[in-house]
Amino acid sequence: MKKIAKIKGMNDFEGELSLKLSNFIETVSQIVQKYGYTYIKTPHVEETALYKRSVGDSSDVVNKEMYNFIDKGENDICLRPEGTAGVVRSYIESGYDKQNNKKRYYYYGEMYRYERPQKGRYREFLQFGCESFGSGSSYEDTTMLVMVCEILDSLGISYTLELNSIGDSAFRTNYINDILKPFLVENIDHICSDCKTRKDTNPIRVFDCKNSSCQEVYKKVTKLTDALDSSSKLEFETILKRLDRLNIRYIINKNLVRGLDYYNSLVFEFTTDELGAQGTLVGGGRYDSLVSTLGGNSTQAVGFAMGIDRLLQLMEDGCNARDGIYFGCLDSDALEPIYDTIYSNKQEIKTYLEYKPKSHTKHISTADKLNFKYCCIVSSDDITASNIRVKNLLTKDEQTYSSISEIRYD
Ligand code: HAM
Repeated sequence: MKKIAKIKGMNDFEGELSLKLSNFIETVSQIVQKYGYTYIKTPHVEETALYKRSVGDSSDVVNKEMYNFIDKGENDICLRPEGTAGVVRSYIESGYDKQNNKKRYYYYGEMYRYERPQKGRYREFLQFGCESFGSGSSYEDTTMLVMVCEILDSLGISYTLELNSIGDSAFRTNYINDILKPFLVENIDHICSDCKTRKDTNPIRVFDCKNSSCQEVYKKVTKLTDALDSSSKLEFETILKRLDRLNIRYIINKNLVRGLDYYNSLVFEFTTDELGAQGTLVGGGRYDSLVSTLGGNSTQAVGFAMGIDRLLQLMEDGCNARDGIYFGCLDSDALEPIYDTIYSNKQEIKTYLEYKPKSHTKHISTADKLNFKYCCIVSSDDITASNIRVKNLLTKDEQTYSSISEIRYD
C-alpha cells in the first residue's frame, strides 16, 4: 500500500523536538505570567471576514495565504493565519471593551498560511503571542519589549531588536498621498513589478521589498519616521530613552512597516541572522484602532507574537538530559508486586515499568536507550529478601532499599 505523507509545509514534533517544544511553552508561560498575562485559547477556525477586516484585504496574509473554505453550512471560514484577531474578537464578545477593562492575555498554538515552504517558513507553524488591552501608555510598550528580551535571554537566543514608529492611520494616509505616492509615480520605471502593484494596493509595504535596486530608490524618499508629527515623535523618543536607561540595545529601522494592516505608532521585530532568509523571530506593535475596527468600543492595545518553530531551531539541544526511573522484572512473579507498589503511590518522578521479564543486561540497555536516569531491576527473590537495588545510569552508583516505596531520588 502507498504510504500517506504529511502535508507540504507542515511538521511533526516528536522526540527531542517535542521535548524542546514543551520546555519552551513552560518557560515562556512562566515568564509572561510574572508580567500579569493570563492564558487564552481561541478557536483555530474563524469567519474569514475577521481576518479581512483586521489583518487587511491588501496584505499578503489575506490576499494570497489564507486557508479559507466554505463549510457544510455555507459559512466562509478560515484556518487562523495569526492570533491577534481572534483574541480581539473574544475580548469584544466578552464585553470587556464596554467596561474599558485592562486585560493581558497570552496564547500559543498553530497558525496557517499558504506560503511557499522553506527552512523556517511553514504552512502550519506555531506562535506564542501576548496581547495587552486597555493601556495606551508607552510604559506598556516598553514593558512588553523588556519581557520579550527576558524570554529570549532565558532561552539563550541572541537577537537584534529593530524598532520603528509608523504613526496613526490618518497620518499614514496623508504621508501616502502627499509624499510616497508622488515619489513612486516619479520613480515608476525604477521599481519592481511587485512594488508597482503595492503602489496601488498598500503603498507603505514597498519599504519591505527584498529587491536591492528598489531599496536604492527608496533611500531618496522621506520615511514615515522622519515625517511624524511632534507628539508621535516625542512618544517614540521617550520609548527609546527608556530602553537606553534599561540598557536594552536596539536599532531604528525606518523601513520596518510590518506586513499586517492593524498597526500604529510603535512597531518592532526581533531578528537574527542565524536563520538565513527567515530571520524574524518576533513581530509586534501597537494596534489602537483594531478593537473599534472589529466593532468594539475604542480600546488601546499592544502585542507581539514569536515564531516558535524558528526559536526551537536556535535553542540548544539541552532537553535530552537523563531523567526518571525505569523498572524491570527478571521473572514474571515479580511484575505484580512491582506494579502494585508503583501505581498505588503518587509518582515523584517520571516512571516507566517494562511488563516483559528480561535479563538484567537487556533491561539496562533499554533503560539506557530510553534515556532514564535511574534503573531498578527486580526479581521475586529480591522482593522477598527486601533487597531492591537502584542504579544511577549517569554516575553508575547503586543504592539499596528494603522496598520499592522506600526509593528516594536526589
Ligand atoms: P507576524 O510577524 O506575521 O505577526 O508573525 C509573528 C512571527 O511568527 C514571525 O516573526 C515569525 O517568527 C513567525 N511566522 C510567521 N509566519 C511564519 C511561517 N510561515 N512559518 C514559520 N514562522 C512564521 C503576527 O502574526 C502578529 N499577530 C503579531 C502581533 C501580535 N502583533 C500584535 N500582536
